[in-house]
Amino acid sequence: MKKTKLISTFVIACLLFQTACSNAKNESKSTTLSSEQTTTQTSESTSITEDETPSINPDYEGMSAEEIVATLTIEQKASQMVQGAVYNIGNEQMENNDFGSVLSTYGNVPANTFEEWHDIVFEYQEDCLRSEAGIPFIYGADSVHGVNQADGCVIFPHNINIGAANDPDLTYEMGVCVGSDMLYTGMRWDFAPCVAASQDPRWGRTYESYSSDVNLVEQLAVPFSQGLMSEGILACPKHFMGDGYAQYGTGEASDGVVRLIDRGNSVMTDDEINQNLELYGALVDAGVQTIMISHTSLNGTKMHENQEIIGRLRDEYGFEGIVVSDWNSIHNCSGEDLRANVISAINSGIDMLMEPDDYKDVRDYIVDAASTGEISEERIDDAVTRIIRVKINMGLFEDPYSEDITPTYDYNSDYSHEVALQLAEESLVPLRDDAGTTIPDGSRVFVTGPAADDTGVLCGGWTYTWMGSTDVANGSDFVNGANSILDALKAVADEHDIEIVTDEDQISTCDMVLLCVGEKPYAEWNGDSEDISITGSLALDGNAEAIELAKNSGLTTMTLIVAGRNVIIDNYIDNWDSIIMCYLPGSEGGNAIAAALTGDCEYTGTLPMPYYSSTNDIANDNYWLPIGYSAINE
Ligand code: BGC
Repeated sequence: MKKTKLISTFVIACLLFQTACSNAKNESKSTTLSSEQTTTQTSESTSITEDETPSINPDYEGMSAEEIVATLTIEQKASQMVQGAVYNIGNEQMENNDFGSVLSTYGNVPANTFEEWHDIVFEYQEDCLRSEAGIPFIYGADSVHGVNQADGCVIFPHNINIGAANDPDLTYEMGVCVGSDMLYTGMRWDFAPCVAASQDPRWGRTYESYSSDVNLVEQLAVPFSQGLMSEGILACPKHFMGDGYAQYGTGEASDGVVRLIDRGNSVMTDDEINQNLELYGALVDAGVQTIMISHTSLNGTKMHENQEIIGRLRDEYGFEGIVVSDWNSIHNCSGEDLRANVISAINSGIDMLMEPDDYKDVRDYIVDAASTGEISEERIDDAVTRIIRVKINMGLFEDPYSEDITPTYDYNSDYSHEVALQLAEESLVPLRDDAGTTIPDGSRVFVTGPAADDTGVLCGGWTYTWMGSTDVANGSDFVNGANSILDALKAVADEHDIEIVTDEDQISTCDMVLLCVGEKPYAEWNGDSEDISITGSLALDGNAEAIELAKNSGLTTMTLIVAGRNVIIDNYIDNWDSIIMCYLPGSEGGNAIAAALTGDCEYTGTLPMPYYSSTNDIANDNYWLPIGYSAINE
């Protein structure tokens, strides 16, 4: 096959440029684009037309991982152990170094098409196979609720919704759909599922957790992973372990950011530790081959240097796959410098280091530490054997371009939308139903609130960009192909004889108010907040005004909450007759909500986490509503 490099090298160059301009995650994690990298990309994009697509070195045929490792130099082994970011690694660099993996990133709006992603991945693979070592690489990405870095792909509900839906079979189907869509992009490694069991709703990653109950997390994380793996995608449960237990006020201060909870210290009893290890054990039994370490500490020891617990994963639970570090996390360990932290992380049992920027230095530190004996040859061989073994297992030594794998569904298939819709429908939780949970046929409904007409709010963080966006901030609908709640209701209004009113002057002519409030999209520590009230620091602009308007109308009020956690609503609920918690239901969320409100589907969702009346109650576990609650079942 002949292939020109021009088009996708141009795509990488654009990606580099866009990323440098707009990727907040990278800015906040001190990533800058060096002029050398920009130059490399630009010069490549003007000249290259490649020859035949390279294939796997035939010498590797039939060799075991150990045998392949035995043929590699220490530099080649160390290169396998690092994962740099797509916005730093140019094609020439990849050909010269053959890094073990490349990590995706966010920050493109509009997002790349799946074809553009596919070209990027394909060309890196060509570079690897042209390199001296000729070991295929793996491309990793956070497809945490759909292929949320590719344009137009369905955006599934976030994990907190999946916990509310609690439908393991459908969660398996979600895994298959995400895996199938990933195959079109060429990305074979998904940094998902997040199996944190969030214990404190003030943590910004609460919506990435299925539940605060580890058993429920297991019931859903296992089928999701199995679904992904059935398509040939590597699942990567994260973050090992206990990140949902990080205590309020212990968040990490690093890179100029002081965090409230995120990356903090998890205080866990032996029972809790064992229960969480069992969760990972169940995932290992299900066949997961990669696990990501948590940014947090466990009872005072950074997980990235926690040899004992990582050792238990291997020794007690038989994990033979790749342990990967989290983004730059080893930089914040206890060593005096990065070199010391590299040594300690690898000696603690981490096989691959996610180093978006410092991958070359880190590779050199590994080589150097091997020469001084600070990292033993045995440990390096163990790490690289694990990496190569996973690559063999996933078929990359026979089919490095993943050409022989057929995705089960079309890209962004109707079926994936059906699964996303059904999961969103099943995840809606009635918290109160005094005025029922549907809009009576024949009603005039005043629809208000900043969550009513916003596709970005329905999807939350990790949507196209790390932080996601509201439609308001984006200037137009943020999520392609999604209906807002208002649009979806308008689409079904006639068939249910419902009149939708949004003109405030007509409020007195209406029968009821549908009040749509919510949180701004956020990711990681940006969502940590001491004030998780629906009018607090992360509340959508306009929540308070809409709440006031509904109250002053004196009309029956049904409130929809679109948020990444059980936000505090105690000050307002006396004025609300019915309340539906929608969490972050994704790009089919508007349609799901409209279906539920018009009686086209049943409410079957239940709370995946306790609901507190006040943040003061969190420490005492003095909740308003328990896990498993739905007003419908009362
Ligand atoms: C997050 C991980 C994510 C990684 C790569 C980290 O900061 O903690 O969940 O997989 O970045 O984007």
